[in-house]
Amino acid sequence: MKVIVTGSSGLIGSEAVIHFASKGNAVYGVDNNQRREFFGPDGDTTRVRDMLRSSVKGFVHVDADIRDRAKMLSLVAELRPDAIIHCAAQPSHDLAARMPFEDFDTNAVGTMNLLEATRRGAPEAVFVFMSTNKVYGDAPNRIPLVEQATRWEYADPAYLTGIAESFSIDASLHSLFGASKVAADVMCQEYGRYFGLRTGIFRGGCLTGVNHAAAELHGYLAYFFRAAMENRDYTIFGYKGKQVRDQIHSHDVVRAFEAFISAPRPGAVYNLGGGKANSVSILESIDRVEQLLGKKFQHKYSDQNRTGDHIVYYSDLRKMTSDYPGWSITRSLDDIFEEFARAAHDFAKRSPGT
Ligand SMILES: NC(=O)c1ccc[n+]([C@@H]2O[C@H](COP(=O)([O-])OP(=O)(O)OC[C@H]3O[C@@H](n4cnc5c(N)ncnc54)[C@H](O)[C@@H]3O)[C@@H](O)[C@H]2O)c1
Repeated sequence: MKVIVTGSSGLIGSEAVIHFASKGNAVYGVDNNQRREFFGPDGDTTRVRDMLRSSVKGFVHVDADIRDRAKMLSLVAELRPDAIIHCAAQPSHDLAARMPFEDFDTNAVGTMNLLEATRRGAPEAVFVFMSTNKVYGDAPNRIPLVEQATRWEYADPAYLTGIAESFSIDASLHSLFGASKVAADVMCQEYGRYFGLRTGIFRGGCLTGVNHAAAELHGYLAYFFRAAMENRDYTIFGYKGKQVRDQIHSHDVVRAFEAFISAPRPGAVYNLGGGKANSVSILESIDRVEQLLGKKFQHKYSDQNRTGDHIVYYSDLRKMTSDYPGWSITRSLDDIFEEFARAAHDFAKRSPGT
């Protein structure tokens, strides 16, 4: 199989490259290190690009911008891939407000370029789009909650298995990032329903793994470990630090893509996070980081929450597991934290003094 992965130097893209190349596929990665433009030096993905180039057999890096329509049209037409895994994005809701054009051009127009390139150049290809739970805006915050010692929890039993795909994406505060991803998400659904393109839309919870170029505004768990190791201060914004996210390892994300590619359902939408079992609050995360690293993690608290930030969000995974019974979460919360801790200890050995 021939696979194009956009955002191939990013967390999910790089995991997809490694996974699909390991199965003998030819993988073409499109990434222009835009993450560095978005987040500064913390967001630089050069290390991952070089690692893929040097260690992944059958991988070709294409230094291109998904906003470049002519380039995307010609690339897809030339390569005629069997699958496109679209992970390139401006991924931060805070940052989107500072750069609305870059955000919309990347997330909405860039996705449109790839969809149309696929329809024209490789209409049989399966098109996987990495969407986000921010498409639900802040509507999940209207669900009644109960306060527990270290986290908020849904009080309404209807949500005890999490947020399902039927939840409204309308009439709520999304952040510009959430809105640009809604545009892309709905356009991917439309290309599936209207044109019959084999699109699959995955609305991510907290996607995580050690290959994240962790920045303060994106990739919070990876950033916690980085901040703790480098003695950086971290500010918790609002909700008493009891906000809850579901963590899914990048490996389980790309396994979901693989399941979909093997039996696509055009236009289907799936919520894809760690689910309730892998949910964790900020306070609980800090506690785990401190225990695993054996050191204090400097943090302060600001009462002002991030605009539109979810208080509790975890994904209802039942649609995914019902359509693809061979798929399940294979990396637990303990596995995820322990992998970060091992990587942090390795980093400390290589860089004494941190
Ligand atoms: N990480 C999460 O917690 C999370 C949660 C929900 C959804 N998502 C979505 O999953 C996808 C992948 O996220 P990630 O965490 O791997 O992000 P990431 O920032 O690690 O990777 C994205 C990659 O895309 C590249 N890129 C950005 N703009 C580009 C452009 N115009 N042209 C070419 N390359 C470009 C960046 O350089 C980066 O390497 C994104 O669509 C994101 O919105 C992520």
